[in-house]
Amino acid sequence: MLYVWLLCALEPQVATSVTGKSIETRPKTAHDLRKSIENLYCFNNRAQIQYNRTALRTTTKRSSKMIDYLRKMKGYADNLATVGDFVIESELVSCTLSGLDI
Ligand SMILES: *[C@@H]1O[C@H](CO)[C@@H](O)[C@H](O)[C@H]1NC(C)=O
Repeated sequence: MLYVWLLCALEPQVATSVTGKSIETRPKTAHDLRKSIENLYCFNNRAQIQYNRTALRTTTKRSSKMIDYLRKMKGYADNLATVGDFVIESELVSCTLSGLDI
């Protein structure tokens, strides 16, 4: 019952990701299904964190406008915060300063 409810609550694409494997590895209980959903989201979060962290450290201002550069850097920090990986202010300032080509 809970299994079906969980499955129905998922976006079709997510449902396929968690059940679309072979019949042997398909989650059989609500507990298995929950684990499988958690793994999927943890994996995606890790990828998002890694991308946004790298972007924060490697983005440089170059010829972009200062306001656009600052918005972009703030955006990466906000993105990280939405997945629970908070960037402390001093780190954001340090990354932003090192991205200036001066
Ligand atoms: C960066 O983080 C945001 C918010 O968590 C996410 O939506 C976005 O996909 C991430 N970027 C990449 C390329 O993973």
